[in-house]
Amino acid sequence: MSQELKQTIKDMVIVGKGILAADESVKTATKRLASIGVESTEETRRQYRNVMLAAPGMEKYICGVILYEETLHQKSNDGILFPEVLSSKGIVPGIKVDEGLADFDSSAEQYTRGLDGLGDRLEKYKEAGTRFAKWRAVYSISENTPTEKLIQRNAHDLAKYAKICQQHGFVPIVEPEVLIDGTHSIDACHKVNEKVLRAVFDALNKENVIIDCAILKPSMVISGKEANSRAGVDEVARRTVKCLKATVPEELPSINFLSGGQTPQEATAHLNRIHTLGEDLPWYVSFSYARALQDPALKAWQGKDENIPKAQKAFVKRAKLNSLATMGKYKEEMENEE
Ligand code: G3H
Repeated sequence: MSQELKQTIKDMVIVGKGILAADESVKTATKRLASIGVESTEETRRQYRNVMLAAPGMEKYICGVILYEETLHQKSNDGILFPEVLSSKGIVPGIKVDEGLADFDSSAEQYTRGLDGLGDRLEKYKEAGTRFAKWRAVYSISENTPTEKLIQRNAHDLAKYAKICQQHGFVPIVEPEVLIDGTHSIDACHKVNEKVLRAVFDALNKENVIIDCAILKPSMVISGKEANSRAGVDEVARRTVKCLKATVPEELPSINFLSGGQTPQEATAHLNRIHTLGEDLPWYVSFSYARALQDPALKAWQGKDENIPKAQKAFVKRAKLNSLATMGKYKEEMENEE
């Protein structure tokens, strides 16, 4: 079993490459499609996935894609099942396995559902060709949140999920997302991230999760979206590295950030700066973005077939810029290049 996990890690931790999160739930995909005036149906969601997953050349920059259950059984415009489209390009298909958020403890917070029957679902997903999984827990920052109770609950559930994944031969992506929404300072975000990550790794250890066969998908340490004055690129990168070094064991193979509402340019610039600080990073540090990789393509596509080549170009360009960022080679002026 651990040989299988190690091979998946090998296929997903490749210098210059990262992960595409194309695992928006029906609800989230509907929101994305509404932003370009397209009605959300099974077919329009398939067409949207096709833009990204069938984009020529994306395999140069992307080594794994997180899919949503519906997409597993859908086909590209060329009639090939999406997991096969990816595998044939050497990209590892993965699957979002959490079942979304539910109210927690009658407070303003939410926990993540999906542990019931997870093992059986993983066996089904394995037949469909997926080899890694993702589970997202969320934490909002306000005067009273996140509560200690939620931090412990999420840590416990992330660890249980990760353990079950490994027992079924799946590499778990552990995603504790500290939300960017709010007016909080970068300092508050730093404290919360540190607390959350400590709790997560304590729980993973208690559950005997094999750390070198797991991937962390954290938020960057960043000011709240509505904060009066927001920290610059340099401070975000420094704080993020400091926080990770204080909490993440060195044997973890890869950290792949979520973009969490940053603009595509911000997400790339931050990742790039993390790699140009001159800090020694014990893990591979890359991206697992959804919005920051797909937004320009979504806008270029507008739901029209004739725009597919333009949209795919926009997507591959974003993937390339993030690939360069993982090597500290991104420059702002590249945004204007073809
Ligand atoms: O769970 C969230 C996604 O996997 C990452 O999405 O990059 O838009 O935050 P995002």
